[in-house]
Amino acid sequence: MINIALPKGRLGEKAYKLMEKAGFGCSEYSESVRKLVFRDKENGISLFWVKPFDVCAYVESGVADVGVVGKDVLEEQSSDVYELLDLNIGKCAVCVAAEKGFEDDYSGPLRVATKFVRSAERYFSSVGRETEIIKLNGSIELAPVLGLSDVIFDIVETGETLKENGLQVIEKVSSVSARLIANKSSYKFKYDELKDFNEKLKGVMNYD
Ligand code: PRP
Repeated sequence: MINIALPKGRLGEKAYKLMEKAGFGCSEYSESVRKLVFRDKENGISLFWVKPFDVCAYVESGVADVGVVGKDVLEEQSSDVYELLDLNIGKCAVCVAAEKGFEDDYSGPLRVATKFVRSAERYFSSVGRETEIIKLNGSIELAPVLGLSDVIFDIVETGETLKENGLQVIEKVSSVSARLIANKSSYKFKYDELKDFNEKLKGVMNYD
C-alpha cells in the first residue's frame, strides 16, 4: 500500500488526474464529498486530502509515503524529505506585487503580506530591503487593497486574482511547479513500489 498526501484544491485535483492516468486511480474517490481518506486495494493506494501547507508534515513523519507539494511550499518549509520528481503541473511564479502606481519610497521598512514568511525574508534580505513581514493565511491580495501592507509576496498563476484586485507584478522572484516528495524511510523500505509509482507518473506527464 502506498500512502499518498495530496493538497486540497486546484493543484491536488490536477495531481489526482495524473495519478489516475498512470493507473493509480481510487475507485472510492469522488470530488463531491467531504471525505478526506480514500483507499483502493486493487491499485494499492491510500489517498489523504490535506491542506497544501500540511503535505510536508504528513510525508516527513511517514504517515504518508509520498506527497504532492508546490516548490514554493517546499522551499518555505525546508522539510527533511526526498524530492523525487518535477510533475510539471501547477506551474506559477513567486512574485512581489502591489497596487498599480505603487513606488517604494524607502522611507521605512516595506510592509510585505505573505504566506511564505521565510522565503520572503530570504528574498528581501538578498536584495537588501528592510521589511515588516505580515503573515496571512490566504487571500493575500486583499492586504495592499485595504492598506494592511505595501506589497505582497505570493504566487501568481493566471494573474486573474491580481488583475481583479487592481494589483500588478513588480518583480518576478522565481518559477515554481509541483513536486513529488517522499518520506526517506519509505523510499528505502518501499523502494520498488515507489519507483514504480514514480516511473508510471513520468510516463503520463505532460512535458510542455
Ligand atoms: C493562490 C495565490 C493567489 C492565487 C493566484 O491562492 O495565493 O491568491 O492563487 O492565482 P491566479 O494568478 O490564477 O489568480 P489560492 O487559490 O491557493 O487561495 P488562497 O487565497 O486561499 O491562498
